[in-house]
Amino acid sequence: MALTCDCPMSQPGPTLAATCGGGAFMLFMGLLEVFLRSQCDLEDPCGRTQFRSHMDSVYDFIVIGGGSAGSVVASRLSEVPQWRVLLLEAGFDEPTGAQVPSMFLNFIGSSIDWGYSTEPEPAACLGEEGRRCYWPRGKVLGGTSVMNGMMYMRGSRKDYDSWAEAGIEGWSYDDVLPFFLKSEDNKQLDKMDSGFHATGGPLTVAQFPYHPPLSYSLIKAAEEIGNEFRDLNGESHTGFSIAQTTNRNGSRLSVARAFLRPARDRHNLHVMLNATVTKILINQTTRQAYAVQVRNSHGGTETIFANNEIILSAGAVASPQILQLSGVGDPAVLRRAGVTPIVPLLGVGRNLHNHVAHFLNFRVNDNDTAPLNWATAMEYLLFRDGLMAGTGISEVTGFINTKYADPAGDNPDIQIFFGGFLADCAKTGMVGERIGNGSRSIQIFPTVLRPKSRGRLEIASADPFAYPKIYANYLTHPDDVKTLVEGIKFAIKLSETKALKRYGVKLDKTPVKGCEKIKFGCDAYWECAVRMQTAPENHQAGSCKMGPRGNPLAVVDNLLQVQGVDRLRVADASVLPAVTSGNTNAPAVMVGERAADFIKQRWLQVHSRAVSITMRMTNCN
Ligand SMILES: Cc1cc2nc3c(=O)[nH]c(=O)nc-3n(C[C@H](O)[C@H](O)[C@H](O)COP(=O)(O)OP(=O)(O)OC[C@H]3O[C@@H](n4cnc5c(N)ncnc54)[C@H](O)[C@@H]3O)c2cc1C
Ligand SMILES: *[C@@H]1O[C@H](CO)[C@@H](O)[C@H](O)[C@H]1NC(C)=O
Ligand SMILES: *[C@@H]1O[C@H](CO)[C@@H](O)[C@H](O)[C@H]1NC(C)=O
Ligand SMILES: *[C@@H]1O[C@H](CO)[C@@H](O)[C@H](O)[C@H]1NC(C)=O
Ligand SMILES: *[C@@H]1O[C@H](CO)[C@@H](O)[C@H](O)[C@H]1NC(C)=O
Ligand SMILES: *[C@@H]1O[C@H](CO)[C@@H](O)[C@H](O)[C@H]1NC(C)=O
Repeated sequence: MALTCDCPMSQPGPTLAATCGGGAFMLFMGLLEVFLRSQCDLEDPCGRTQFRSHMDSVYDFIVIGGGSAGSVVASRLSEVPQWRVLLLEAGFDEPTGAQVPSMFLNFIGSSIDWGYSTEPEPAACLGEEGRRCYWPRGKVLGGTSVMNGMMYMRGSRKDYDSWAEAGIEGWSYDDVLPFFLKSEDNKQLDKMDSGFHATGGPLTVAQFPYHPPLSYSLIKAAEEIGNEFRDLNGESHTGFSIAQTTNRNGSRLSVARAFLRPARDRHNLHVMLNATVTKILINQTTRQAYAVQVRNSHGGTETIFANNEIILSAGAVASPQILQLSGVGDPAVLRRAGVTPIVPLLGVGRNLHNHVAHFLNFRVNDNDTAPLNWATAMEYLLFRDGLMAGTGISEVTGFINTKYADPAGDNPDIQIFFGGFLADCAKTGMVGERIGNGSRSIQIFPTVLRPKSRGRLEIASADPFAYPKIYANYLTHPDDVKTLVEGIKFAIKLSETKALKRYGVKLDKTPVKGCEKIKFGCDAYWECAVRMQTAPENHQAGSCKMGPRGNPLAVVDNLLQVQGVDRLRVADASVLPAVTSGNTNAPAVMVGERAADFIKQRWLQVHSRAVSITMRMTNCN
């Protein structure tokens, strides 16, 4: 494998050996990295977004944050040749190792992770140090889509329809579906429900090329206890699937790779990396957002002006933080932090929430899956296939109804995730190397899809580099605990099926620390276990929630415009009024598509506006 790329290698960021802890992993992982970097499609030295060393002082649009949603916004806006667009991203470009699906957990805790921790939790994460839950978030071009599990999941029809019913005009499922389709390039149309998928968009969607045999057995197990195998982004949202993911030929397709790299030759799109926005400037008289302050890679602070609009896509943690730093938020919170309030908006940072889970450990006999070794590495390097071309059994998922959900409603209340069988860190490349003695552990994570607990987030000082205080408040609503306990019972039932017998799947019954005194397996035990050993999911949402115009707790209206501020929108997972029933990357991409569309409607007199007005007039007859 010679180095065949014509363009110079440039890639910063953590290496695989470093993400495995170096030392014993140095030789094998270091060598693997060298081989990975010699592969043009992974390293992509010519295709990577050209980022600039200097910014101009004025643009038409400034996008803050190059994550799942921001990458889409910047790409779509720069389709208009006369618009000059600036994208500001605090991190660097994505490391080569992150392109390998099986390494998806490696980068958590690395330099491309913001690595937030919550404040001490009252009712969850009680077994963690300081009762704090850990929140990974991508600090890298592509944002959290560079370190996520890659699952492509839109949520249920009911999620969106309930927003529309609550008065958020234009956000029913039928309204949002065209924007999911706009992004999508589904490589397995024949396998999916017709009418729900599209080809030709920038976001490649397909199953991984490789599935561990256990994946199929898990599906069989779910079927054995009455669950259907189906497209979970199609006709129905209830059932199990080997999920489609955002992968392209066995490598990770971050949203930046999908949307920004194809736009790299556009002269009207400037991408700045290592550029942290510290504040949005808002005119106190006109309440118009007109500029941003940025800490650039020379350590200086620059003010960049926007002729038209500023779009805040910094994610569910940083977007409300930046609004508060800019004087938009609850005046009491801002004053405590030493920030002068400009626009009182009580909802900023409130309604923060996230899916919540508990993981159960199981021992399995493992004879049919090899670990990461030279044979599996070669399979990946030569064919983009095998263990490295997937996330182990994390590709399997299911949506189920506990006794608290109405099965007729097709709106399940628990999602089941799996973990294990990952080819990630290996010490030697010896063929046939085994982990332990043929027995290893897998995890099943029942996850509450529509949590009722709500948290909040607030800045503690005017220092833009200080992390905000995060109060997640997991499991403070008793219904979340009850639902989660039912999810646990399902997971155990699943593990006891005939389909899983041959793996000798056995629940690890070591009592969770702090719950030893309660009889293992009864409801009270599980209630204790979920509070001690809480698994926060990574689907933070709601902290700049969208609501009907004039709603005092809504931060943005149905066009994603910040209430009370002109020329400022928020577009990322923070605007979801309630987290969708499923993973949140695809919804964030959809929000990005919609933001760009709303902006085009305002600033280009495009046809769709005329159409919607005509339709409304027809409705009046
Ligand atoms: C471990 C893990 C696994 C996951 N698995 C899945 C999955 O399988 N499927 C799925 O659909 N979802 C998954 N998710 C969730 C999903 O990836 C996120 O919900 C989604 O990426 C959020 O998109 P966003 O645009 O809201 O924010 P982000 O993608 O986080 O983007 C925000 C961007 O803003 C930048 N930024 C922040 N502050 C500033 C600043 N001051 N100046 C400039 N830039 C700034 C950040 O660096 C980042 O690039 C997972 C998440 C994690 C952590
Ligand atoms: C705010 O807007 C007013 C009215 O357009 C203008 O006179 C003033 O200079 C603006 N202030 C700043 C700081 O741009
Ligand atoms: C990134 O920016 C910081 C200042 O904000 C600077 O100290 C650092 O050298 C920059 N890194 C690179 C690689 O440009
Ligand atoms: C996938 O990658 C392999 C290995 O680089 C290559 O041989 C193959 O042509 C690629 N397939 C597609 C569809 O790009
Ligand atoms: C290895 O096998 C032995 C004997 O079967 C068993 O007692 C032990 O628990 C196993 N070790 C692991 C890590 O599973
Ligand atoms: C693994 O090997 C053992 C002993 O060789 C065998 O009894 C068991 O059935 C095998 N398990 C699987 C999943 O093949």
